Amino acid sequence: MVEPRPPCPKAKVAVFISGTGTNMAALLYASRLSDAPFEIVLVASNKQEAAGLALARLEGIETFSHAHQGHSREDHDAAMEAAAKQAGAQFILLAGYMRILSEDFVRRWEGRILNIHPSLLPKYKGLDTFARAIEAGESYAGTSAHLVTQELDAGEVLAQVRVAIAPGDTPETLAARVKLAEHQLYPRAVADYVSRGSDPKHLLARLRELALALPETYERESHGSPGFRVGTEKTGKFFAHFHDGHHGSDRVAVLVKTGSMDELLHLVETQPESYLKPAYYGASGWIGVVLDRPDLDWDHVEDWLAQSWQRCAPARLTKLHDVAEMF
Ligand code: GAR
Repeated sequence: MVEPRPPCPKAKVAVFISGTGTNMAALLYASRLSDAPFEIVLVASNKQEAAGLALARLEGIETFSHAHQGHSREDHDAAMEAAAKQAGAQFILLAGYMRILSEDFVRRWEGRILNIHPSLLPKYKGLDTFARAIEAGESYAGTSAHLVTQELDAGEVLAQVRVAIAPGDTPETLAARVKLAEHQLYPRAVADYVSRGSDPKHLLARLRELALALPETYERESHGSPGFRVGTEKTGKFFAHFHDGHHGSDRVAVLVKTGSMDELLHLVETQPESYLKPAYYGASGWIGVVLDRPDLDWDHVEDWLAQSWQRCAPARLTKLHDVAEMF
């Protein structure tokens, strides 16, 4: 019988604010629900007097503030980042943080930094979103939770909520209703996003994309789990197996072929968080590369898949591959 999966550790998030911090408060109280998959380890601001800092302190959350005046964008971001790292943050959530971030900072946190923006993106990026939506005669305003990328308010939209514009709405009356929607949307979007890393469905989808991008590969089930083969349908060989809590471990992993038993045993012994020895496959050199970990590096998984493909593919393919590698 497969044991139930133990609860995953909560993702640690830092929230950056510049003002009232009502979105931060919504995140904070949502994080205190018993099934919340994230916890706030730091609330940081570029404004010492930001009201949200006082609330965070009252609720026992660590705070940090660093005025941006007199500092270059890079230096200011570096100070905020250092505080987030020091607190152990794995994700950064912008919640009314009214600063453009430096390119390097965004690059370093790519995929791990989210924002809430008061419009239905891609409409009305930037400032004064309510006045612009009212002026344009829109029937709806709204709010978007999105990933942060180099381009302002242009990263992948994770979730949105529409808010009807009433006749006679001013930017202020509309903003107040949009905030109510934001307080529902942002905690939910964050919970869903940080859970992706432990969601077997999401992990399998990503793995499938990488495995099937290798030459002459296809998917076939093996012992009830998805597997990936290289070669023809008739003579192909498995080079990767998806492993979801079966085979004597409760982790989600991809099984790939190592070069030797020594390599396998060494990796499992020295990096038990990253590798496992599968119960039924281990003797033949298959190692489990653990996928459900917050700091998973997909480039690393891609390298393992390529190596395993190389070890399992028929000579006619690996020869071609070796030649291609020479150029
Ligand atoms: C929120 O409405 C948020 O969407 C907006 O600032 C407000 C902050 O309120 N953010 C932006 O405009 C970012 N471009 P809060 O401090 O009460 O959470």
